Amino acid sequence: MRVTVLDHPLVAHKLTVLRDKDTTSPVFRLLVEELVTLLAYEATRQVRVEPVEIETPVTRTTGVGLSKPRPLVVPILRAGLGMLEGMTRLVPTAEVGFLGMARNEDTLDIITYAERLPDDLTGRQVFVLDPMLATGGTLREAIKFLYRRGAEQITCICLLAAPEGLAALEEELGDSEVSIVLAARDERLNEKSYIVPGLGDAGDRLYGVVD
Ligand code: URA
Repeated sequence: MRVTVLDHPLVAHKLTVLRDKDTTSPVFRLLVEELVTLLAYEATRQVRVEPVEIETPVTRTTGVGLSKPRPLVVPILRAGLGMLEGMTRLVPTAEVGFLGMARNEDTLDIITYAERLPDDLTGRQVFVLDPMLATGGTLREAIKFLYRRGAEQITCICLLAAPEGLAALEEELGDSEVSIVLAARDERLNEKSYIVPGLGDAGDRLYGVVD
């Protein structure tokens, strides 16, 4: 497992505004999109391309185009949905699948409540979008699910991660090819498994509180 924390002043600046409890939902959504576009630039470093012949106004030359099958982007509902626009802005021809996973706040168990993905992901490059890597439980279940379908390379794009969640993932998936790209590695989890300093509940801040 490889973890990359994007060390860039613009990322740090946008993240600071995102964390601020007084930042409104519309601004929060915009910042998430912008941050994901920056993270996606790093996360897609290994995306597969193939040679493409083109003609410029001056001469023929060989460039590159994204290989087929296209990369598959999988936002984890609900909060991952807020990251989709920022990702597809950078990779507009990517295919998109959906995985609905939620944490039971009492038991911390992960349940899969929705899934819209190809049955066969053999050889596919998959980009999972999940803003908060807290205990690591949701991502672990999502990654296992995608590997069972045959995914070859899995890259997870997260805004924040807690060291506890990263360590748990490393223990279970340490030997795998999984890559994690983050805007920041935070200090710790609190007693309710929220990331500290964090930004609160990402889904609520994106979309408002749903009871
Ligand atoms: N999910 C969130 O939205 N925030 C956290 O801090 C942890 C999990």
